[in-house]
Amino acid sequence: MNHFQYKDGRLFAEDVDLTALAQKVGTPFYCYSSATLERHYRVFAEAFPKDTLIAYSVKANGNLGVLKTLAQLGAGADVVSGGELKKALKAGVPANKIVFSGVGKTRAEMMLGLEAGIHQFNVESEPELAALNSVAKELGKRAPITIRINPDVDAKTHAKITTGTSENKFGIPWSRAREAYKLAASLPSLEIVGVDMHIGSQITELAPFEAAFARVADLVKTLRADGHSIKRIDLGGGLGVPYAPTDPAPPAPELYGAAVSRAVAGLGCELILEPGRLIAANAGVLVSRVTYVKEGEAKKFLILDAGMNDLIRPAMYDAHHEIVSVREAAPAAVYDVVGPVCESSDLFGSNRRLPELKEGDLVAILTAGAYGAVMASAYNARPPAAEVLVKGDQWAVVRPRMSDDELIGLDRIPG
Ligand code: LLP
Repeated sequence: MNHFQYKDGRLFAEDVDLTALAQKVGTPFYCYSSATLERHYRVFAEAFPKDTLIAYSVKANGNLGVLKTLAQLGAGADVVSGGELKKALKAGVPANKIVFSGVGKTRAEMMLGLEAGIHQFNVESEPELAALNSVAKELGKRAPITIRINPDVDAKTHAKITTGTSENKFGIPWSRAREAYKLAASLPSLEIVGVDMHIGSQITELAPFEAAFARVADLVKTLRADGHSIKRIDLGGGLGVPYAPTDPAPPAPELYGAAVSRAVAGLGCELILEPGRLIAANAGVLVSRVTYVKEGEAKKFLILDAGMNDLIRPAMYDAHHEIVSVREAAPAAVYDVVGPVCESSDLFGSNRRLPELKEGDLVAILTAGAYGAVMASAYNARPPAAEVLVKGDQWAVVRPRMSDDELIGLDRIPG
């Protein structure tokens, strides 16, 4: 069920009227639906055996309100920085449900993870194995590790979010996996616990996943034959979501779950998955007010008070986001919907059919709950949009929009 629906001609988030909310919190703001987050988590979790660790990928939306909502359902966390690790812990994710991914973990970040007692480090290179071994030794601990294997499978997604081919910086090449495990086994402060992979994001077909899962399942057998104890398989995230009504539907979680089960059948491994986008994307919209309607020579522009600094996906990945009027009305005009930032790429959508809109009207940019607020910047000295979490008829500002003075106050003029 979609929790962003029109009621009496106005768009609601669950039982909260977005028009009234905009009056109270000011625009632009992200609005997240707890019910959608919860539903997506449950549908995904139910596609896997009960003891599977669903480590929500914090990078998709790391707001503490969102993390808390998921932690209460039993979610773990996939983190890629000390900051994300601290956020996950603060939101109540138990340390033993946290996996630490990323190609450039620093020694300080490793220390944080070891001190917290996280579930595992997903190690991405031989130098990282050596560094983690030395940090763990200093602390008198053993670091539980998997090695992220790059299975060299093309995920057939946008080039900027594909990670599992031999051209990408991620993981250790499939062909070097056995050597890397041998090295790890020789380092006494590391404890090998499993294998990890992740091939990319916004993947809309099962075939690339199936090819990668098959390679990893084969590898588990080889590594066990080499004498390693492989108890866990972490299959990463990556399942896509539909952004446009005309997009082909990505595989349903049940089908994805069935493909995983087929691939790992008989291995007797604990499973870990790291979904991000699938949980958060359709749980959030970006609400913005029309500042001006401008008649260009060839186009009619709807100039919003949200910009590419608030939601960079269209500029960065040519991503499509549906844009709707918050007041329900029949489409009557065609606009290029743009922000105020001084870049031509500050364009949310071209040739969009919308109702006739005027200054002060509200629009909602959809499917903005993942990789939206987390990727915001203060470009053009614009404090990024506020964030609001809704639950039924209740709402809370879970991150206020900084004032100009607060933002400027972060700078220092040297003496
Ligand atoms: N695990 C690892 C190791 C990852 O690198 C990622 C995403 C995930 C899990 C979560 O993947 P998801 O389930 O969300 O597809 N900013 C881009 C997406 C970057 C994804 C990076 N890695 C975008 O806006 O499309």
